[in-house]
Amino acid sequence: MKHDQVVPDLAGQLFGDRLPLAARYVEHLATTGVDWGLIGPREVPRLWERHVLNCAVVGELVPPGSRVIDIGSGAGLPGLPLALCRPDLQILLVEPLLRRAQWLEQVVADLRMGQVEVRRARAEQLVGEPAVPVVTARAVAPLDRLARWGLPLLGPGGALLAIKGRTAQQEVAETAAQVRRAGGVSTDILAVGGDVLGEATTVVRVRVGDITVGASGHRPSPARPGSRNRPRRTSSEQ
Ligand SMILES: C[S@@+](CC[C@H](N)C(=O)[O-])C[C@H]1O[C@@H](n2cnc3c(N)ncnc32)[C@H](O)[C@@H]1O
Repeated sequence: MKHDQVVPDLAGQLFGDRLPLAARYVEHLATTGVDWGLIGPREVPRLWERHVLNCAVVGELVPPGSRVIDIGSGAGLPGLPLALCRPDLQILLVEPLLRRAQWLEQVVADLRMGQVEVRRARAEQLVGEPAVPVVTARAVAPLDRLARWGLPLLGPGGALLAIKGRTAQQEVAETAAQVRRAGGVSTDILAVGGDVLGEATTVVRVRVGDITVGASGHRPSPARPGSRNRPRRTSSEQ
């Protein structure tokens, strides 16, 4: 496996001494990721900026030491970049498709990332497992469906972080009632990483209430934004 990619300066800033591991992950995406059909060949020249770095910056919204469930992980996005830049996190990559789950298992084993687990499952099948403070998702489903799948997995004060595109505002407005019904008590649209990336990553953060008791009955500490780079709030609470 060899596919040379120009490593952007910013990657060193985000991944620190794990930069070689991040570069190896990008190499997997550019080679076996394309061969196995997880990444389109046209994405190869922009793997760092469009996929890996813009997922890694979401780390600023994840509290230290959190357990995170990444639903519909596909080629490990955003879960693997998050794990690479945040060794303090425990991340479960959830992916229902056999081939994708197998690819993820191989990559995680190759990178020797003990903090990452892969589960071949649909998000709905995880209900009843110990609650987590953070659930992530990118390009998996519309917000109302994501809320139905992701919010039941959260402990009190937990947050679903959905990476969305330019239509986030419209999607939030159109799905507000369903998201509330699914247990969302507040929804924010946040722009993260704008100071380091050319274009900020848009994250829709849906929180559940502080007094919600997760399926396991256990109460993880409430999610709070990291102090490194406070995100810009672009929409008001519901
Ligand atoms: C378009 S891909 C996005 C993959 C990755 N998150 C990314 O940003 O590149 C959507 C993924 O969601 C997965 N998926 C679909 N329904 C799901 C469900 N109910 N639970 C978990 N994952 C699901 C699909 O198998 C697929 O890998």
